[in-house]
Amino acid sequence: MTREAHPQILILFAHPALEKSRVNSRLAAAVKDLAGVTFNDLYEQYPEFDVDVGREQELLTGADLVILQHPFFWYSTPALLKQWEDLVLEHGWAYGSEATALRGKRILSAITAGGREEAYQREGHNRFTMAELLRPIEQTARLCGMDWLPPFAVHGTHRMSVEQMERHAADYRRAVEALRDGRLDLAAARERSRLNDDLDALIRDGDRAD
Ligand SMILES: Cc1cc2nc3c(=O)[nH]c(=O)nc-3n(C[C@H](O)[C@H](O)[C@H](O)COP(=O)(O)O)c2cc1C
Repeated sequence: MTREAHPQILILFAHPALEKSRVNSRLAAAVKDLAGVTFNDLYEQYPEFDVDVGREQELLTGADLVILQHPFFWYSTPALLKQWEDLVLEHGWAYGSEATALRGKRILSAITAGGREEAYQREGHNRFTMAELLRPIEQTARLCGMDWLPPFAVHGTHRMSVEQMERHAADYRRAVEALRDGRLDLAAARERSRLNDDLDALIRDGDRAD
């Protein structure tokens, strides 16, 4: 497959205890072998948090779509992904009047959360929606000129059956493939709070849609 054949996808994966993971391990396994996907396991790469800025910027440069995949920790990212943001998204490279490195690239959050979707409502246990809680990441991406997509969010991980986890993993693979192949209806997706609400309605078979 040549580089031009389809958009290149960079998955920035952050899970500090992958050996204990039930959900992210399955989601990761479902996408890491896909053509066009570069799977960058940050905790494996940087156990001492010594992020290689040059390497990460090079990976970003080669990507058309960046996926931030991680469990939701304290309404945010695991610490190493925050460290990655703080170091890699440099002024003059990622943002600032002269910065163009990330402009026009798409970005998707792929998140797993213990809390159920009902808990992420105004009247719910967590008082804010997932979209609201993701605003710092969304605005970071927008400041860098990136095109923010609604998140692929998996809720209620604490009580999830293996069958449900496998279904989410299969959905994740379908969504990533469809994004790669231009078969995901982005206009319809942008109307949603969650990309993976009813994937069948968003994904087209056949030729590229964008
Ligand atoms: C340190 C820590 C913080 C967490 N914070 C949240 C949180 O803010 N909201 C939430 O819904 N779940 C939270 N959880 C639950 C995780 O999101 C959940 O265990 C994870 O998504 C499951 O994925 P995994 O099987 O890949 O580990 C937290 C878990 C840990 C360990």
